[in-house]
Amino acid sequence: MSHCHIDPAVASARYACENGGVNAPIPRWEPLSEPVLADQRGTCDRMRAACPVAESLRGVTLFRHADVVAAAADPATFSSAASEHRQVPNSLDPPEHVAFRAAIDRFFTPERMRALEPRVRGIAQEIVGALPRGTAVDAVTEIGYPLAVRAQADWLGWQGVEDELIAWMTENHAATRSDDRSRAAAVADAFDAIVFRQVQRRRQMGGAAPRDPTTELLSVTVNGALLRDADIVSILRNWTAGDLSSMAAAVGVVVCFLATHGDVQESLRGDPGNLAGAVDEMLRIDDPFLVSRRVTTAETRVGDYELEQGKRIYLNWTSANRDETVFGDPDAWRPEEHAAHNLVYGTGVHVCPGRPLATLELVVAVQTLLGMTARIELAGDAPLVRETYPLGGWRRVSVRLY
Ligand code: HEM
Repeated sequence: MSHCHIDPAVASARYACENGGVNAPIPRWEPLSEPVLADQRGTCDRMRAACPVAESLRGVTLFRHADVVAAAADPATFSSAASEHRQVPNSLDPPEHVAFRAAIDRFFTPERMRALEPRVRGIAQEIVGALPRGTAVDAVTEIGYPLAVRAQADWLGWQGVEDELIAWMTENHAATRSDDRSRAAAVADAFDAIVFRQVQRRRQMGGAAPRDPTTELLSVTVNGALLRDADIVSILRNWTAGDLSSMAAAVGVVVCFLATHGDVQESLRGDPGNLAGAVDEMLRIDDPFLVSRRVTTAETRVGDYELEQGKRIYLNWTSANRDETVFGDPDAWRPEEHAAHNLVYGTGVHVCPGRPLATLELVVAVQTLLGMTARIELAGDAPLVRETYPLGGWRRVSVRLY
C-alpha cells in the first residue's frame, strides 16, 4: 500500500507517493492526525503537489481544482446522497434536487437581500460598537459568532434563541471531530428540537404568525405538495446548523486577512470598490469551508486512480481554491483575475444558495469594521489559532481595534 507521509514539520517537499501510475492503489493519508490538524491548509498544499488523490478510513479526498470541479459537475456519478440521513437539498440528487432548489433559491433574491441589509448593518454596528478599543478582541467568538447567529436569527425570525444556537455550534464541532456517532446523533436531535419548536410555534399562531422565512416555508410547495415536516426541519437545519459555523469562520478569515495585510486594509479604507469580490478572494486564499461529501454511484476514474462504486469522496474546496495550476501563487491577492475560478461557494447543481446572504453579512461586517475603526492589527503573543476539521480558517484571531 502506498502512503503519503504528511508530517508537515518533516517532509514539506518530500512526500513519498510510491507506486504512482495507472491502476496504482490510492495513496493513504490521515486527515485527523495531529500534524494535519495543526496545519490543514499547508497540508492541502503539500498533498495537492504530491498526492492529489488520497484515501483515509473516511474516504477518498480530491485536492486538485480540476478533479473537484469535474466531480461536482457530475452528480450522476458523484452522488450527494453520502450520508445515511436525507438532507434537503444537500443530500438530494437530480432530478429530485431541482424542484427543492427552486423552492429554496427564492429566499435569497436580490430584493430580499436589500430588504435585510439595514437590519444586518444595525446588528454589525451594535457588535463592533460595543467592542473595546486598543485591547485584544477575538474576531471569531466576539465578532463572527454573534454576527452570524444574530443575523441568522433575525432573518429567520428566531430572536431569543441566539445563546442556545451558539452553545449548539460549539458542541456540534466537538461531536463531529470526536467521530462518535451516538454523540453526533444526540447533537442532531438537540438541533432538530430547537428548529421544530420554531415550526410548532408558528403553526399554533396560525394567521398571527410572524411574516418571516420560517413561516413562509410552511406554505411552500414542491411538485404541488406542501413540504413535509421532516423536510422543513431539514431545510432550516441546513440554513443554520452548517452555515452559522461557515459564517463565523469566514468572519475570522476576513478579519485576519485585513489585520495581516495592512496594504489591502489601507486601500479598502480609501476605496472599497468591489468589496464582495475582495471578500471572495480572502476566502479563496484561506477557505474555511473545508470539504463536501459525495459517494460514487458507479466505477469511475480520477487521475490515475480507479474508484469503485460506493466510494466515499471528499471534495476539498480549501485545496482546490489554492491550486497553482489555476491561480499561480495561491496567496497572491488578485480578486478580479481569480473570481471566475473561485470555488468558495462550490460549483455545479449544489452551488451555495446562501451565497447572497453570506456575502451581504460579510460585506456589511467589513464596511462596519473599516467604518468604525482607524486601524485593525493583530494582538498578543499568539494571536492566531487554527480551526480544525470539519472547518478550516481560524479558531482564534486576536486583534486590536483602534
Ligand atoms: C461564507 C459562508 C458560506 C460558505 C463558504 C458556503 C459554502 C458552500 C459550499 C461550498 C456549498 C456546496 C456544497 C456541495 O457542493 O455539496 C454550499 C452549499 C449550500 N449552502 Fe452554503 N456557504 C456559506 C453560507 C451559507 C448560508 C448563509 C446559507 C443559508 C442560509 C447556505 C446554505 C447552503 C445550502 C442549503 C447548501 C446546499 C445546496 C444544495 O445542496 O443544493 N450557505 N455552501
